[in-house]
Amino acid sequence: MSSSNVQLLFFSFLLILSYSSGQPSFRPSALVVPVRKDAATSQYVTRINQRTPLVQENLVVDVGGRFLWVDCDNNYISSTYMPARCRSALCSLARADGCGDCFGPARPGCNNNTCGVSPDNPITRTATGGELATDLVQVRSTDGSNPGRSVNVTRYLFSCAPTFLLQGLASGVSGMAGLGRTRVGLPTQLASAFSFDRKFAICLSSSTTSDGVIFFGDGPYKFLPNIDVSQSLTTTRLFINPVSTASSSTQGEPSAEYFIGVSSIRVNNNSISLNTSLLSIDTEGNGGTKISTVNPYTVLETSIYNALTTAFINEAAARNITRVSSVAPFDVCFSTTNVLSTRVGPSVPSIELVLESESTVWMITGSNSMVQVNDNVLCLGFVNGGSNPRTSVVIGGYQLENNLLQFDLATSNLGFSSTLLGRQTTCANFNFTTSA
Ligand SMILES: *[C@@H]1O[C@H](CO)[C@@H](O)[C@H](O)[C@H]1NC(C)=O
Ligand SMILES: *[C@@H]1O[C@H](CO)[C@@H](O)[C@H](O)[C@H]1NC(C)=O
Ligand SMILES: *[C@@H]1O[C@H](CO)[C@@H](O)[C@H](O)[C@H]1NC(C)=O
Ligand SMILES: *[C@@H]1O[C@H](CO)[C@@H](O)[C@H](O)[C@H]1NC(C)=O
Ligand SMILES: *[C@@H]1O[C@H](CO)[C@@H](O)[C@H](O)[C@H]1NC(C)=O
Ligand SMILES: *[C@@H]1O[C@H](CO)[C@@H](O)[C@H](O)[C@H]1NC(C)=O
Repeated sequence: MSSSNVQLLFFSFLLILSYSSGQPSFRPSALVVPVRKDAATSQYVTRINQRTPLVQENLVVDVGGRFLWVDCDNNYISSTYMPARCRSALCSLARADGCGDCFGPARPGCNNNTCGVSPDNPITRTATGGELATDLVQVRSTDGSNPGRSVNVTRYLFSCAPTFLLQGLASGVSGMAGLGRTRVGLPTQLASAFSFDRKFAICLSSSTTSDGVIFFGDGPYKFLPNIDVSQSLTTTRLFINPVSTASSSTQGEPSAEYFIGVSSIRVNNNSISLNTSLLSIDTEGNGGTKISTVNPYTVLETSIYNALTTAFINEAAARNITRVSSVAPFDVCFSTTNVLSTRVGPSVPSIELVLESESTVWMITGSNSMVQVNDNVLCLGFVNGGSNPRTSVVIGGYQLENNLLQFDLATSNLGFSSTLLGRQTTCANFNFTTSA
């Protein structure tokens, strides 16, 4: 038998394995993974099992990332690793047109006749080449209340990356989990492996010692004490930016990131004056509002930043809240004197992102606007993005904490909860005790 026949046999064998999945009687309707804020970097790190034998990988969550990438140069050993052969269906699924060889002994990340993609580190804005491959990934199923039994995806498509791409990421991390809107992002691959809805939800905890949660699939999304957050979401449209925002991309590739249509911004219910053309995405892909888990704080184009901070400072002054010296990276800080504490954070002027109608409002209360930098000082947790940023409003991690966001890829809708603190729960209140 020629070697190519052996390979063909091997491939058909794997194909059968991936369809039967070893347990035909159990098909999960949703999956769940934990996510923890890293204290040193404010990155959000999830944990997923991969390889044979299984290894737990810590991965920085990039909600707009195109796919999963993992450092394969540092002790990646797996009997189920399979490089994607040039011109295979897997390559076209990942838009990987090229074909490459690797000089050196064959190993995960270095094989001949494979296609490659460009794994991207959006924190250092570095992209490089990486071998496209499949391997086994294992995650927990869920009924929405607890994790259930583990399920395997035998041929999960991901990219290898060299170790240097980990620079700037939280310590102990081996790659990034891209939840973006592509055919090979985690949401779509997991949904198609188990034929559930192309929906996922993120709920980031503000705590660096207890886990928030990411659900793949539809709700319920239950948090202690038995609050199903999926039942009370406000819905807004998701927009596709026609031009990729990644560090490296191919011509004509749309952005994998999630954009929403902010039409105005209010402070204490008063609209601030803005150049509204900054709020829409132009034909070159500039402008608009996106959601990011890799920016720790919301970044605003300079004129928007100035309008927001001016209005906020005036409203704060009307409440006798005194401005004090800035504390990097923030410009606008206040004394805690005269700031009361409430269930939804420090009592400060509210910030409202107005979406497609005056009544579709993402409300940002003190819990998500104010950062306590020391006992006496609170800073407005927004940063100035300069006068020509690619995207005018980048909603960052701090503003997402303790809010549940559900992304529906099939209908292009975002469901958002605004702060769960007002409903007496938090993103750290998912019950991770396994019920299976
Ligand atoms: C999932 O994969 C692991 C590692 O190969 C294996 O030990 C386990 O039995 C598999 N589980 C199922 C349900 O197939
Ligand atoms: C790829 O092919 C070249 C030329 O045939 C060979 O020298 C090299 O060792 C091969 N590399 C791998 C990783 O198999
Ligand atoms: C906020 O402003 C809107 C429109 O400007 C108005 O309809 C609404 O009554 C105001 N709400 C409050 C609480 O002041
Ligand atoms: C508004 O923003 C657009 C897009 O950046 C810019 O071209 C235009 O000059 C701005 N208009 C004003 C009045 O600043
Ligand atoms: C602010 O302080 C002034 C002077 O002390 C006082 O008259 C006023 O009532 C205070 N306003 C608020 C909103 O507390
Ligand atoms: C968490 O779930 C476990 C398993 O279902 C259950 O026994 C436990 O009571 C739950 N914890 C709380 C606080 O409800």
